[in-house]
Amino acid sequence: MRLKLIVYLVISLLVSSCMDNKDEKSTRSKSNMDIDKKVDSLLALMTLEEKVGQLNMYSDFWESTGPANTKSAQEKFDHLKRGWVGAMLNVHGAKNTKRIQKIAVEETRLGIPLLFGYDVIHGFKTISPIPLAEAASWDLDAIQTSARIAGIEASAAGLHWTFAPMVDVSRDPRWGRVMEGAGEDAYLGSKIAAARVRGFQGDDIGAKNTIAACAKHFAAYGFVEAGKEYNTVDIGTSTLYNVVLPPFKTAANVGVKTFMNSFNDLNGIPVTAHKELQRKLLKGEWDFKGLVVSDWASIKELISWGHATDEKEAAILALSAGNDMDMEGYVYINELTDIIKSGELSEEVLNEAVSRILRLKFELGLFDDPYRYCNEELESKTLGKQEHQQAVLDMAKKSIVLLKNDNQKLPLKRAGQTIAVIGPLAVDKDSPLGNWRAAAEPNSAVSVLEGLKSYGDNTILYHKGVDLVNDSPSFAKEANINMTNRQGIKDAANLASKADIVIMVLGEHGFQSGEARSKTNLKLPGLQQELLEAVYKVNPNIVLVLQSGRPLIIDWAAKHIPSIVMAWQLGSQSGNALAEVLYGDYVPSGKLPMTFPRDVGQIPIYYNHKNTGRPRNVENNVFWSHYLDAKNSPLFPFGHGLSYTVFNYDKLKTNKQKYSIGEEIKVSVQISNIGEYDGKEVVQLYIRDLVGSVTRPIKELKGFELVDLKKGETKELSFVLTTNDLGFYTNKGAFVIEQGEFEIYIGGSSTTTLKTKIALK
Ligand code: NOJ
Repeated sequence: MRLKLIVYLVISLLVSSCMDNKDEKSTRSKSNMDIDKKVDSLLALMTLEEKVGQLNMYSDFWESTGPANTKSAQEKFDHLKRGWVGAMLNVHGAKNTKRIQKIAVEETRLGIPLLFGYDVIHGFKTISPIPLAEAASWDLDAIQTSARIAGIEASAAGLHWTFAPMVDVSRDPRWGRVMEGAGEDAYLGSKIAAARVRGFQGDDIGAKNTIAACAKHFAAYGFVEAGKEYNTVDIGTSTLYNVVLPPFKTAANVGVKTFMNSFNDLNGIPVTAHKELQRKLLKGEWDFKGLVVSDWASIKELISWGHATDEKEAAILALSAGNDMDMEGYVYINELTDIIKSGELSEEVLNEAVSRILRLKFELGLFDDPYRYCNEELESKTLGKQEHQQAVLDMAKKSIVLLKNDNQKLPLKRAGQTIAVIGPLAVDKDSPLGNWRAAAEPNSAVSVLEGLKSYGDNTILYHKGVDLVNDSPSFAKEANINMTNRQGIKDAANLASKADIVIMVLGEHGFQSGEARSKTNLKLPGLQQELLEAVYKVNPNIVLVLQSGRPLIIDWAAKHIPSIVMAWQLGSQSGNALAEVLYGDYVPSGKLPMTFPRDVGQIPIYYNHKNTGRPRNVENNVFWSHYLDAKNSPLFPFGHGLSYTVFNYDKLKTNKQKYSIGEEIKVSVQISNIGEYDGKEVVQLYIRDLVGSVTRPIKELKGFELVDLKKGETKELSFVLTTNDLGFYTNKGAFVIEQGEFEIYIGGSSTTTLKTKIALK
């Protein structure tokens, strides 16, 4: 009894020292040292079991984002009441979080508040385009705003923490999770990682409308072999350092509060237990002070990997490697107390992990007021707000990529046309929400048909043609698919034959990409290809609007269909954004963040590949690096995207020809809008290191800028590179800048040929 009283006194002193200060801002700006002291004092009051409890994260009792839980809701509640839970995931909503938080705060001995985390990947209630689509905008301000809105809505719904951004670079569209990332390039990925972290976390993590971000999945998850989910990864140090790690390092540099490790192994070590990565690199060299959470049960999975014999060994390996929190794995809670008691791991290792978790709770202001994010009135005023809808509409327009536009079929004429809209996705209000749609209402997106009907003055006809086939288990249940009935194809073709122009909306459903949605066949699912070809026969005047969470194989379409618009999954405002772009109210400006292959056999395919020893067919024989049955080039390269207007690049130059290490390299280029519309262009700068001690890619993105150009306007653009931009990591992970010659390219895609040469002495 006496102990309990003393404990409460100390805790309330700790808390009141924060609450005394009514000025939120100054409370929030309390120095890290202050927080460290509070963490230490609190730690000193905690029992071993309570410390272990802080490392324990449970998924909620109603919703799940992983395999079945093995603990009953009753047992979890029981642990909650004992103070054996540090965080919850999948509990959201001001009311729900308050109810659970109350148990932690009012029923446990120390009343330590819980952290509430959730996968707020591209919006909470108001849904933005999927992250891969946003990356296609190359618009860092818009991307930051999109994450800011997600943060505002999520925090109003009681959440403190999002498991985003996913910053995994990937070159493999078979991997369903490419929809969650920023594509294939480490430079673009790093810029976007920073924008997203800043958006979620704002300027002040202690403000009530910001949430902690999480850089995931550390590391190399995007390189799973054969694009198969949860698979093994075997890559060299040079790829790890030059391609995989940069976005993570950037996230750490801009102050991301948390990291999540990943399900894969990396060169034989499951990364949840990877000491070199987490303890040495992240927490050591990069001096990351935040917390590292496992992925769902990934500590337990060390046993299936054959890396740990049992849960006890798994716990020892993971905690020693620097994994602080156990997400829904029950391993820490089951094992750690005994492990520490027996001296197999020191209590210091445990304390270090607990401190990181408590520090975040202090930073979020949860000790000031554990219910500060649980305001139902604020929640109902905030979620789905008009201004949020406006922002996601803006983001959606910027995310669309015009892949092809022969004979300027687009933009559409405003009036006097009969337009046949065909395809199952044209009326789908659910698919545009994507796979990670957090708290969005199902079927709440504006469909393409709705969008088109509210624009222009044309006659709009519709036929779905075929059903959408979905190979994802969660969708298959809902879909009523008939693969043998082709009557719909005939009817749709008949409708198309009467139209001036046909808009075909085809692709994958939102649930066909995302976690556990790896695929070997990336063609249009089901009978959609047949539908496309049947319609083409009667009316080739087609605009294909392609919706998917990954690059698809559309070689036939690219050859025959005059206009192709990449529409990804564009979120709540999908149909409105597409209508604006199709009618030319917004002139498309998106550029691909990921290469479109001609065939799955080309995968992995990416722009920054090596030259090889036999890059060209010089002697007209077979002995060069190529395929017998397909071209080497992609269908659409990284950085590609057309506009309704035309841009011309000229006068690329540098301020000098020879540079010494440390000097700035000033590059300028002239860009003119020589087409018929005002427009926006993503100007891309690439370098090529001609000779390296480690072979260098044929091009590397090192800069980009979004430029607005009125019809007929010319602008001179300048970029400043540092000699660091010419450096790279060796096979030992050392950063080097080597002398020699470099080419600098500027243009509107990674295939640009406009170049100049410099030398580094
Ligand atoms: C597993 C996923 O890999 C991860 O990204 C996600 O945050 C967790 N599940 C929680 O839902």
